[in-house]
Order: sequence, then C-alpha cells, then structure tokens
Amino acid sequence: MSASERELFLDAANRGARYLSGIRDRSVAPDERAIERLSKLGGPLGAKGLDGPAVLALLDEVGSRGTIANSGGRYFGYVNGGSLPAARAASVLSLAWDQNAALRSMSPTAAVLEDIAGGWLLDLLGLPATASFAFVSGATMASFTGLAAARHAVLSRAGWDVEGMGLFDAPRLNVVVGEEVHVSVMKAVGLLGLGRERVVRVPSDAQGRMRADALPPLDELTIVCTQAGNVNSGSFDPFEEICDRAARARAWVHVDGAFGLWAAAVPSLAPLVRGASRADSWATDAHKWLNVPYDCGLVFVRDAAAHQHAMQLQPAAYLAPDAQREPAHWTPEASRRARAVEVWAALRSLGRDGVAEMIERSCAQARRFAAGLRAAGYEVLNDVPINQVLVSFGSDEMTRRVIEAVQRDGTSWCGGSVWKSRAVMRISVSSWATTDEDVDRSLGAMISIARAF
Ligand SMILES: Cc1ncc(COP(=O)(O)O)c(C=O)c1O
Repeated sequence: MSASERELFLDAANRGARYLSGIRDRSVAPDERAIERLSKLGGPLGAKGLDGPAVLALLDEVGSRGTIANSGGRYFGYVNGGSLPAARAASVLSLAWDQNAALRSMSPTAAVLEDIAGGWLLDLLGLPATASFAFVSGATMASFTGLAAARHAVLSRAGWDVEGMGLFDAPRLNVVVGEEVHVSVMKAVGLLGLGRERVVRVPSDAQGRMRADALPPLDELTIVCTQAGNVNSGSFDPFEEICDRAARARAWVHVDGAFGLWAAAVPSLAPLVRGASRADSWATDAHKWLNVPYDCGLVFVRDAAAHQHAMQLQPAAYLAPDAQREPAHWTPEASRRARAVEVWAALRSLGRDGVAEMIERSCAQARRFAAGLRAAGYEVLNDVPINQVLVSFGSDEMTRRVIEAVQRDGTSWCGGSVWKSRAVMRISVSSWATTDEDVDRSLGAMISIARAF
C-alpha cells in the first residue's frame, strides 16, 4: 500500500469517526437544505476523474449531512438497528480484506466465520443443531430462501423436481399466510412463482396474531407462513398450535422472524416464541436487532438437503466438489460480501448474556415509551410485547400531523402506520445505542409537540 493510499484509508476512518462522534448532537433527519445539497453529488460524469481525497471529501461534506442518524440512539423508524462498535470495526477491517464469500477457496476466513457464527446462531436461537443456515442480504431474501427450500421439499414429496422442471404442470401446492403477513414474504411468494393472489389468508386477532382456530385444512402440499414479531405490533403467532396442526398434516411451517426471532435468545422472552423451533424454516435479520451494519439476513432450514437442492450451483468444471460446506450452495447469490464477519464480531463481543441484555433493554425502553405516552394521555394501541409501540394522538389527522412534526423537530425519528384502520405513530426500539436518557428526551419532545397542536 502506498503512503497516499494509506492516508486515504485513514482519512475515511477518521471522517467516519468524526461523523459518529457528532451523531447525538445533530437532528436525526437531515434538513431540507442538506437534502437539496445532495444534487452536488450529481451532474454529468466528466471524462476526467477526481482524485481519491477529493472524492472522499465531496462524499463526506455533502453525503454525510444527507444521512439519517440511525447510528445514534434516537432513531425509532421502521425496524432498523444501529451498528455495535465491534461489528462496525470488523466491517472496516473486512472492507480492507474485500473477500468474496461465495466459495471456501475464495476466502477460507469468510467460510470458517460462517461455519462458526452459523453454529452459534442455531444454538442462541434455540433451533435444531443440524439445521442448515445461510447469510443473505436481509429477511426478504431469507424468506425467499426458506420458501424455496419449502417449495422443493413439498413438491418432491409429490414426486416433482421443481428446480429441474419448473412449476409448469407441477402438482398444486398451497401457501397459507396470516392476514398480517409482512410484504417481504409476499414478495418471496411472488418471486418463487407461488402466486401472491393464490395464497389463503388466515384472520388475525386484535394484536395481529394468526388465529390458529381459523386455519384452513392443511396437507403435505401446504406451506404455512407464520410470523415472530409483527412489523407494527410486535406480536407473535401461536406457533405451538400451528405446528401441532401442521405436524399432523405433514405441512411445512416457515417463520418470518425478521426481528422477533431474537426473543428466543432471551430467557425472559422465550415464551413468546414457544413452539417456533418446531417449524421447518426460519428467516431473521442480523442488521435489525443484532445491530450489525447493513446488510445481513439469516435463514435456517431444518431439512438441510431441501435447502441445498433449492440453492446449489450446478456442477461446473472449475468448481471443486464440496468436501466442506460451500457458502454459495446455500444462497441465492454466488459472489457476495462476507457478512459473517460482522455477525461473528457482534456475537463474540456480546456473548450470550450481552445479546439477551441488549434485546431486553430495547423491550424495557419500548415499555418506557408506552408508559410515558399513556401518562401524558395518549392511547397506546398494542400490548408492547417486545420493542414496538403504536400510539395514537387522537384523530388520524392529528396523529399524522404529530408524526410530521416529530420528524421535522429532529430530536427523534418515528414513522407512521395504520393499525386496525387507525393512523398510528410507530416507535421501534432496535438500537444498542439507545439509552434511557434518549427515550426520555424523545418522549419529552413528542409530548410537547403533540400538546402544542
Ligand atoms: C416482520 C418483517 N419481515 C421481513 C422484513 C424485511 O426485512 P428486510 O428489509 O431485511 O428484507 C421486515 C422488515 O422490517 C419485517 O419487519
């Protein structure tokens, strides 16, 4: 590495550190001017390039101000985690390595970190030790992968090779989802040719849990998509009852646990996911509640052979046969970044107790929000079983105005949603960086904004 390359790399690290040092003092959302200034990144692409330091300076001076401060402690939008210090630092080192995690021969370190972190995750999440796993871009691709394995297994029971023959003339398989299914599962259903319009939707209860008593008849050509952690209310489907019914029918059960599956890593929350470990495939995110940098999703499949059949690369002359686990035979992609680096670093730095403490702390902070809002006279619409709070500030119009003003104020950032036909502000506490003081400061701002209307 030349002296100038080294200087550029350190400049990037220093600028990153400066950005993070100031993150608590800035508005969580960028102001209009900062967003307008982003146009300075555009213009025609000239024939001549800029040198590295000038590229970096432009990106930092214009781009950094246009970001959302989700790495700070007062971002409660969507379900977005922050980055744990060890995971973030590992990511910088990983950037220098620039490993292609597709094959073991391309990166022994990436492959071994997947082996290790995959095993730790199965144990931590209470899943079968023999289940397969893969590191993908997010919960959407995790559900895609889990449902591809399901499609393989279910159709091969009917004597059909779906990867070879496609879905033309295939036996009909049924997909059952809850009324509150996340859009990502429906996207996966569409991508897999299973037909978004053909799914059977099961009604849910007041908290958004699938009603097991309303399940349609199941059979061995059925895939039931369940949910651990409703994106709005945080509620959990009744896995025990659903898995009982599915087991009798030999149906496949998939769990979308983008953030809720992490409850399994916390002894006090484990009852919420009781029975989920009896499912056949599980999707979750590491970039949400495990707080690793974007992007990183995880999929686990009980029937490892079905997973591998669905995802394996066809034999090619230059690919050696697997003596050990080859990452690319478990993922939709071939070349991809080494996501296990940050997952390994996060788990190694937290340990089991640290993971449980981080998840529990977010849940306690969500309850703190709910209590503060209720005490101020506002209505919390969900039970707050984990980290999600849904609050109404009165009429739908009033709630929307408060959300807009909260976002403009910049002390914190929360999104809106609709819950049981009512407009709500949605608070998701998903960052390791959030302190009780952040919650109190955000609450104070929300309440004074709402009272001012
Ligand atoms: C329940 C649920 N499933 C799936 C997803 C999709 O996750 P990703 O954006 O990582 O693909 C989300 C995202 O918020 C979610 O909350």
